[in-house]
Amino acid sequence: MRSTRSSVRPRPDFFTRTTDIMPRLSQRFAGFPAYPLAHIPARKKALLDAGVDVIDLGAGDADLAPPDAAVLALQKSATIPALQRYGFGLGHVPYRHAITRFMHKRFGLEFDPLTEIVPLLGSKEGLAHVAFAYLGPGDVAIIPEPAYQAYLGGTLLSDATPYYYALRPRTNFLVELDDIPEDALAGTRVLYLNYPNNPTAAIAPREYLERVVATCRERDILLVYDNAYSEMGFDGYVPPSIFEIDGAKDVAIEFHSLSKTFNMTGWRCGWAVAKPEIAGALSRVKGFADTGQYMAIQAAGVAALDSWETFVPGNLKVFAERRDAAVAAFRAEGFTCDVPKATMYLWIPLPEGIASKEFADILREEEGVIVLPGSGFGEGGEGFFRISFIQPPNRLAEAAARAGRVLNTMLYRAAHSESNIATSVL
Ligand SMILES: Cc1ncc(COP(=O)(O)O)c(C=O)c1O
Repeated sequence: MRSTRSSVRPRPDFFTRTTDIMPRLSQRFAGFPAYPLAHIPARKKALLDAGVDVIDLGAGDADLAPPDAAVLALQKSATIPALQRYGFGLGHVPYRHAITRFMHKRFGLEFDPLTEIVPLLGSKEGLAHVAFAYLGPGDVAIIPEPAYQAYLGGTLLSDATPYYYALRPRTNFLVELDDIPEDALAGTRVLYLNYPNNPTAAIAPREYLERVVATCRERDILLVYDNAYSEMGFDGYVPPSIFEIDGAKDVAIEFHSLSKTFNMTGWRCGWAVAKPEIAGALSRVKGFADTGQYMAIQAAGVAALDSWETFVPGNLKVFAERRDAAVAAFRAEGFTCDVPKATMYLWIPLPEGIASKEFADILREEEGVIVLPGSGFGEGGEGFFRISFIQPPNRLAEAAARAGRVLNTMLYRAAHSESNIATSVL
C-alpha cells in the first residue's frame, strides 16, 4: 500500500529558527582594529546614485590603462591550456626570469630566478604573510604610522606586538631607530619600511638606508622593505632597491608590484626578492595559504616587465603632470604642500584644530570629493590628509576648489565657535 504521507517533510526547527547561537570569535580577532576607511566605497556608491559629481582621489588606483603588451599577452595566455592549471609556488618560470631581468636592468642586481624570487598575488599578501615566518607571541614588529595596512595585519595575525613609530615632518617621515626605546628594540624581530612612502610621499636617502641596514644586522632584525613605488620617481629621482646597500641581503626582503608601475592594480601581480633562506621561508608560509597566481597573468606580467623601457616613461609623464597640477591647485586654495619626488600622493597638512576625519567626511558628503583622512592610517597620521593624483588635471583643480571651500568654512566655524566660547566665558 502506498504511503499517504506527504513527501514534503516539515523542516526541522533548527533550519528555520533564528537563534543567538554564534561561533565564538578568537581572541586574536577581537584585537583587530576596524578598518577606518571601509565605509568609503559604499558612501561613494550612495553619492553617485544620488547624482553627485564625485571626484575620487582616495585609493592609489590609477584610471590609466595597463601596457597593451600585457593585455595582449593575457588574451593569448588565456587560451593556452597549460597556463590554466595550478601555478603552485613555482608559477610560470618565464615570469621569474623576467623579474630577474628587471632587477638587473633597473638596479644592476643579480638574483637567482628559482631560489631568490617569490611570485605573489599582489605584494600585499606577501607583506602580510612574511610575518608568519618571523613573528610570534612576544615578538615586536616596528610599524610606521601612517602606513600601509598589511604591515599591521601580518603582525596581528602572527600574535606579535606592534610598536608604532609616528612618521612626522621632524624626521622627514623617516623611522629613526635611535628614537625607539631599548626594551622595544630588543624584542624587535621585524622592521617594516616603505620608501618611496605611501602616504607621506617621503623618500629615503641612501645614508639613512645604510644606517637602517647596519642596525638590522647588529640586532638580527628582518627588514621588510616595501618598494611598491620604486618606478614612480620624478624630476630625475630614481628610487633605489634596498639591495643596493651593502650587507642588506643578509637581513632584508624586498617587495615589488606591477600595480602602480603598470596601472595593473586589479591583476594582483607582484613579487618578493631575498636570499634563498628568507625567500624560502615566505614561500613555505604561502604554501599553506594559496596555490599560486594564475599563470596567464604571470605570462602577462612578463610582457609588462619587458615593456618597462617603452611604457614607464610615458606613464610617469602623465603622473608628473597630474602631480604639478594637484600641487598648484591645492596651493592656490590655501593648502601647504611640498612637491613630492615620488609616488602618486600628496600628503597635505591641515591647520591646527581641523580634524582630518571631519574634514574628509564633510568634503565627501557636502562636496563629493573623496580624500583619505590621515587618522585613517592610524593616530600618527592625524593632522594630514592624502590625495592620490589619479585623475586628470582639470578634475584635480575642481577637487582642490571644493576642498578649499570646505577648509574655509571649517576655519570660519572654528573661529566663530571660539569667539562664542570666549564671549560666554566673559
Ligand atoms: C605601500 C604599498 N605597498 C604595497 C601595496 C600593495 O600593492 P599590491 O598588493 O597591489 O601589489 C600598496 C598598494 O596600495 C602600497 O601602497
